[in-house]
Amino acid sequence: MISVSAPGKIILAGEHAVVYGKPALVAAVDKRLTVRIKTRKNGEIKIFSRQPSSQIKEAVRKTEENLALLRSDRLSKILKSRGLAIEVVSEIPVQAGMGSSAAVAVATVGGLLALSKKIKRFSDEDKELINKVAYQVEKKIHQNPSGIDNTISTFGGFLWFKKGKPFKRIKLGSLPRFVFVNTGKAEETTGEMVRYLKNKIENRKNTKQILRSFARIERQTKNLLLGLKDKNKRKIIKAIKECEENLEMLGVVGEFAKKLIREVERIGGGAKICGAGGIKDRSGILLCYHQKPEKIFALAKSLNLEAFEAKLGEEGVYIKA
Ligand code: PMV
Repeated sequence: MISVSAPGKIILAGEHAVVYGKPALVAAVDKRLTVRIKTRKNGEIKIFSRQPSSQIKEAVRKTEENLALLRSDRLSKILKSRGLAIEVVSEIPVQAGMGSSAAVAVATVGGLLALSKKIKRFSDEDKELINKVAYQVEKKIHQNPSGIDNTISTFGGFLWFKKGKPFKRIKLGSLPRFVFVNTGKAEETTGEMVRYLKNKIENRKNTKQILRSFARIERQTKNLLLGLKDKNKRKIIKAIKECEENLEMLGVVGEFAKKLIREVERIGGGAKICGAGGIKDRSGILLCYHQKPEKIFALAKSLNLEAFEAKLGEEGVYIKA
C-alpha cells in the first residue's frame, strides 16, 4: 500500500486578485489529508472518500495521460490488469477556503506517481510533475483557478505566488498567533465564486472599482508581508482589514461573516476571509488577528463557532513511511 500526505493551506492575503495576475501570500497548514492506494485484482477503481469521486477519477486519468507522455506505462498496466482502491482520509474542512480539493488532487497524483515509479521519496522533479498534473485536475474541476492551492499543497512552506510565474519561497521567523474561525461551509464552490467575479468583470459592472480593489489588495498583500517580517502588529492588522474591505467591495463575503468581522474590528483586531468566500450564506474560514487571541476565542465561543490556531509553513506533499 502507498500512503501520501498533502497539506491544506491558508491564503494570508491576495485571494481572487491572484486569479487576475496579482501576487498572493500563502502558507501550508498542519491540517492534512492522506490518500492510500492499494492495487486490486479485478481491473476496477474503487474510491472511498467524502470528496467527489469524479475529482479522484480525473486525477487518475490525468496522471495516466502525463505518464504516457513520459513513456511510462506501469500505471496503465496496473489500471488494466489489477485496478486500484483509493481511500482519502482528511482533516481539512471542505469548502472552507483551506484547499481541500487541491490537496486531494496533489495527494492522489503523488500516490499514483509513487506507485508507478516505486519510490519512497519525491524528488524536486517529481514535485514539479505532481504540481503540473494536479493543476490540470483543478482546472477541470474549477475552470479558471490560479494554481495557488495545488502549488502550496505540493511545495509547502510560505510562498509568494503569482499565476503562471515561478513562485518565491518566503522565510518568516516566528509568526504572531493567528486565530482561524470557521463561519461554516460556503454554499458556493470556489469555481462558482471565481466565475461570479469573472461575470461581473465581463458584464462591465463596476469594472473600474473591481480593478481598483485588485490594486489595493496587491498593496496590502505586500504590506502584510512587510508587517510579518518586521513583526509590526499595527501594520498586520491594517493590511488584514484593508484586504477584507476590498474583498467585500468585490462582493465575495456573505453577511454572516461580515457581521463577525465587524465585531473583531470593534474589539481592536482584524479579520478577513481566506479563500474564495461565499455570499449566499456562510463564507468558510476567517483569518483573525488580535493582540490578545483569547478575545477571538471568546467571541467565537459566544457564537458557537469553531475557532483554532494552526501551525503555518508546514511541509508539502510527502510519501508516508
Ligand atoms: O479554494 P479556495 O477557497 O481556497 O480559494 C482559492 C483562491 C481563489 O483566489 C479564490 C481562487 C484561485 O484559484 O486562486
